[in-house]
Amino acid sequence: MKIRSILKKNIEKIIKKKNVKKIKIIIQKNKNIKNGHYQLNNLFQISYKYKISLKKLSKKIIKKMSTKKIIEKIEFSEPCFINIFLNKKWLENYLNNFFLKKKVIMKKKKEKKIVIIDYSSPNMAKSMHVGHLRSTIIGDATARIMKFIGYKVIRTNHIGDFGNQFGMIIAYLKKKKKIHKIKKLSISNLEKIYCKAKTLHKKDKLFEHKVNKYTTKIQKNDKSCYKIWKYIIKLNLKQNKKIYKLLNITLKDKNIVGESFYKNMLPKILKDLINKKIAVIKNGNVIVFLKDIKNRQGKNMGVILKKENGPFLYSIIDIACLKYRYKILKANKILYYVDSRQKQHFNQVYKIAKKANYITNKIKIEHHFFGMMLSKNNRPFKTRSGNTIKLYDLIKESINRAKILILKKNKKINKNCLNKLSKIIGIGAIKYSDLSRNRITNYIFDWDQILSFEGNTSLYIQYTYIRILSLIKKYKKNIFKLKTISLSNACEINLSIKILEFKEIILKSSKSGKPHLICSYIYELSSTYSNFYEKYKILNANKKKKITRLKISYLIGKILKKGLNLLGIKITKFM
Ligand code: ARG
Repeated sequence: MKIRSILKKNIEKIIKKKNVKKIKIIIQKNKNIKNGHYQLNNLFQISYKYKISLKKLSKKIIKKMSTKKIIEKIEFSEPCFINIFLNKKWLENYLNNFFLKKKVIMKKKKEKKIVIIDYSSPNMAKSMHVGHLRSTIIGDATARIMKFIGYKVIRTNHIGDFGNQFGMIIAYLKKKKKIHKIKKLSISNLEKIYCKAKTLHKKDKLFEHKVNKYTTKIQKNDKSCYKIWKYIIKLNLKQNKKIYKLLNITLKDKNIVGESFYKNMLPKILKDLINKKIAVIKNGNVIVFLKDIKNRQGKNMGVILKKENGPFLYSIIDIACLKYRYKILKANKILYYVDSRQKQHFNQVYKIAKKANYITNKIKIEHHFFGMMLSKNNRPFKTRSGNTIKLYDLIKESINRAKILILKKNKKINKNCLNKLSKIIGIGAIKYSDLSRNRITNYIFDWDQILSFEGNTSLYIQYTYIRILSLIKKYKKNIFKLKTISLSNACEINLSIKILEFKEIILKSSKSGKPHLICSYIYELSSTYSNFYEKYKILNANKKKKITRLKISYLIGKILKKGLNLLGIKITKFM
């Protein structure tokens, strides 16, 4: 139920005036529900804008709103608020209907909009590291959420498979006369070679020239280079697949549409941009100068699409990709889950594609960047020796830590259960700790906090869920045969209003691509429920209260389960 938007719309209708622009109506939840469940907060602003006295305006709103079914009581509150109490019968009715629905669903729009979500998208010359966690799991949660609210979601793993990293590896192996050994190299060996090649590339002009040569060869389908290139990618993809499976990521092979996918489009786009006089050739390089973006020297920003005799660069690939997504895939919206350092890159790509008419204003493009994971000392999260932490190692560690935690609580648990449970708990913990932070800011990664039963953690939510399951089990009889909910105290009403807000939160989170809003919500729901559980009798209460409280508990369990599911976190029925 989008309760606040219902209240807003109603009020909007009441105050509507011809020739006056609509004003945003602010409805907030009251902290203390004794003063009303919701509050109209900007009465003063409305009266000013519509030129009606406060008194007249509030009288009008109160009079018209009090006839609505949804409202029990509505009153003015000093200095200039209106407090709204929801109707108990209406609320009960809503809960009873929700209870009967098998699945938690959203009302879907008739015409499905297409959203492309570009996430994870790792570079194929090295294994995934902790820096890939955020894009992978926030992107995946958003994909689940968008699908849930009715979008046609196209997940895309735009892997980095067409840049000069492959030219570097080949050039380095050729230089060391080790190219024949390529198939014997492990991922970590390859990565070491890539690092060494990168250092050489920075200081050795001749080597740089070779790198360009091999990268261009790959891009032009040269047979022997292509084979090596394919092999490196296969090796990395295999490892990444393992990681996705462990992390419960919905990306499949068919979602891999990497840079190289656009290769046939690139020469034509280059030509077209030159013909349209958007790109120019300067010293052999093909460049677009953008008037509205300045570089550090204050001159028009130059975006290089291709260097003289060099391979196609990252920028032109993304321009082609944008065109493809708009013209062929017919996307209404594209969301990029890519780290904040690429903000300018996306801005440039967007401007060029727009200039060239590859896209129009109809498409919405959003770069959902995110902050970094930091250590307790506020520095980037790295190993003791200062190396980047591999994502696979982080996952393994989380599983091990969860194992130790479980064994502390339950020494007799059988091995099979222990293995299953430690995966759910360990992986759930790292995912939740990341998803529960606002993606825009950096956050400190702290194992103790992540695997704690207290605070906004996955363990706390899971624990509440299990508590509800065992309560319902204890009841022994079928709760679906019970009579309907009838609310009798303020705590029950408070919980009911929280239940009511679920869909509103989902919509809000989908709009901003911020799953942490769902985390905050299910955490609040869990803690309000826990207080309720400790304060009130449930199974030992009188019959009417027992029914209501059991059913409310059931509904909360249903929401917690759905919430975790939308975040891509597996749930456990025991601990
Ligand atoms: N491969 C890039 C990287 O590792 C991210 C790609 C993001 N997506 C895109 N369409 N550029 O930084």
